[in-house]
Amino acid sequence: MISTSFARMTLLLLAMIALQAMSSPVSAAAGRRHSIHHQGQERADGHELPLTQLPRRAPAPPDGAHISQHKPSKVTNATVPIFVNKAWVDKADGGKAGRGITKAWIGLHGKGRDGVATFQDLYPIVGSSGALIIPNFYAPDDIGHSTTDGVHASYLDADRNMLWNKEGWSVARDAVQGGRKRPLNGAQISSFDVVDSLVERLSDKGLYPNLKRIIIVGHSAGGLFVDLYARFGKSTSDGNIKFRYITANPPLNYFEDRTRPVDGQDYLAGCPEYNDFPAGSSGMIPRYVSTTGKRMSFAKSVSRDVIRLAGSRDVYKAGYEVPRCDAVAQGGLDRLARNQNAWVIENLRAKSGKDLSMYRGYQNLTSQAKPVATDAGAPLLFKRTFAIVPGVGHDSGKMFSSNFGRQALLSSSGVSYTPHLEGNQSYVPY
Ligand SMILES: *[C@@H]1O[C@H](CO)[C@@H](O)[C@H](O)[C@H]1NC(C)=O
Ligand SMILES: *[C@@H]1O[C@H](CO)[C@@H](O)[C@H](O)[C@H]1NC(C)=O
Ligand SMILES: *[C@@H]1O[C@H](CO)[C@@H](O)[C@H](O)[C@H]1NC(C)=O
Repeated sequence: MISTSFARMTLLLLAMIALQAMSSPVSAAAGRRHSIHHQGQERADGHELPLTQLPRRAPAPPDGAHISQHKPSKVTNATVPIFVNKAWVDKADGGKAGRGITKAWIGLHGKGRDGVATFQDLYPIVGSSGALIIPNFYAPDDIGHSTTDGVHASYLDADRNMLWNKEGWSVARDAVQGGRKRPLNGAQISSFDVVDSLVERLSDKGLYPNLKRIIIVGHSAGGLFVDLYARFGKSTSDGNIKFRYITANPPLNYFEDRTRPVDGQDYLAGCPEYNDFPAGSSGMIPRYVSTTGKRMSFAKSVSRDVIRLAGSRDVYKAGYEVPRCDAVAQGGLDRLARNQNAWVIENLRAKSGKDLSMYRGYQNLTSQAKPVATDAGAPLLFKRTFAIVPGVGHDSGKMFSSNFGRQALLSSSGVSYTPHLEGNQSYVPY
């Protein structure tokens, strides 16, 4: 016990020193990746809001994209900027342009709130084979900054855009303010309501008479968004439209119970919030989750088409932000380990029968996990799939353009992955 605690403290201390010594490499990378192509004021389509209403100094959107202002609620005229490809149909099109569209992708950006980067990561893969929509959730700190925390906020129109707390948008919280000229007027609008309203628009048969599939995909904080949306979001497959949810390299996952792959109760005692939302069902539950969303059973949630992808190199490095203890309680400092644990625990609970023996956390979880079975005691219908993407770290572009990423985005079957040891398997528990 003493040596374990000592090792843990030493590790944290070293990590904190390293953190102070250098700025976050994640932000630096986020700031570097933009190549803004100046295309003057020309736009391929004439259906969006007039140019005079766009923020004056906003650079041209990335190749293949235009910006639209999406109004998710009737109660307020405040908007969320969305980066869309040409297959996104504005009402003014009268439905014709959407006739050939059968698929749509809704992409969620990461902590850096950088919808441009997300568009640039997904567009080369999906092109215009369907509608691509990236909503951008900005934060109050982004006002007046073209770059905050590595955020590319040049597209923020403070007069009309809704804003979320920096972490709130990724975990279903409500917008904290509307635009300066378009206040919220008391409207409670969760980031999940925004996705619901995009789905509603895509489900409009007048606009998209042939739409069959909607793929909701996110990396990192956007991956957490998708993990939660797949459990609590209103959008579920019906006879008409099938949904897929792709969560890549999320920092943590929603755990259905208090089982955690850590050394007894020692670590958890020092982290009383380990089961607070979004890590679990305690603490302050967002309004959307407790009222608007679908409260689905575990059985229902594992029957959905959810693909989890983890990069084999998505491991902790000195100088990175030390994860919060609710995340660390899910399997240590490495996202790779935490995502394997999340996979293992949901398989064990569902009694999926899959080979889990090579995954991190299996030994610990197999003795702890409480299986959930049908009334008749049978295994649950389990549709989730998982793959470790070889050689890729915390990089959304490389995750999505990998073979497993493309398979998840483009094919209608799940990812088929054979567990085996690969990448850096040296285990840093916490
Ligand atoms: C939204 O804008 C329209 C047009 O300017 C106006 O008529 C309407 O009252 C506004 N709605 C709200 C909720 O402010
Ligand atoms: C896993 O469980 C064993 C047995 O309970 C324990 O000794 C070990 O420390 C655990 N490992 C982790 C990483 O918590
Ligand atoms: C694996 O990770 C550990 C800890 O992060 C590191 O010390 C080691 O050099 C890595 N090994 C390889 C082969 O990358």
